[in-house]
Amino acid sequence: MTGTFRTSQAVSALDPAEPHLVLVGLPGSGKSTVGALLAGRLQRSFLDFDAEIERREGASISAIFAERGEQAFRALELKLTEELRELGNMVLAPGGGWVANPGAVALLRPPARLVYLRVRPETALRRLGTGAAGRPLLSRPDPLAELQRLLEERRALYQEADVEVGAELLTPQQVTDEIVRAVGGESAKT
Ligand code: S3P
Repeated sequence: MTGTFRTSQAVSALDPAEPHLVLVGLPGSGKSTVGALLAGRLQRSFLDFDAEIERREGASISAIFAERGEQAFRALELKLTEELRELGNMVLAPGGGWVANPGAVALLRPPARLVYLRVRPETALRRLGTGAAGRPLLSRPDPLAELQRLLEERRALYQEADVEVGAELLTPQQVTDEIVRAVGGESAKT
């Protein structure tokens, strides 16, 4: 049973015949910012997983982790992923740990295409700024060490993406341009 989604824009039909584009990468790699830009460029609907989970649960990600534990959050992430399997043609930005949530990637790919936004932990932390406090896995004494640890754990999973963009020195607009080029241009469906 599919729930309702609050996407950033409803400009495209959620056509199940057209694969989703899924942005993956560390917290702070720009998934949400680039996702919104990319969706605008490709005229697709955009869904930010964490925002959608917060909306549905009426609670922040931090509160869900604190009150119900990480496993409960991962179950919500997986449930949302299952629902999206029945749809298509969207730009999706799951949280940075989605690739490591067992079974999540396989629910969407094939046919979805994954795009890895690669940044160094130092850059991710700088971009997060005060936003790091809202990430339960990073609100620890040494958030840089946590990001480094997460990258070690997940690097191989991120690198299984279909497209990898070195987002280190690029603006969100430039990253968006790279992705549009890599997936075959504005008129591309996949
Ligand atoms: C997480 C990343 C967060 C959020 C949760 C767990 C992770 O999303 O899903 O705090 O495991 O890396 P962002 O990548 O958008 O920060």
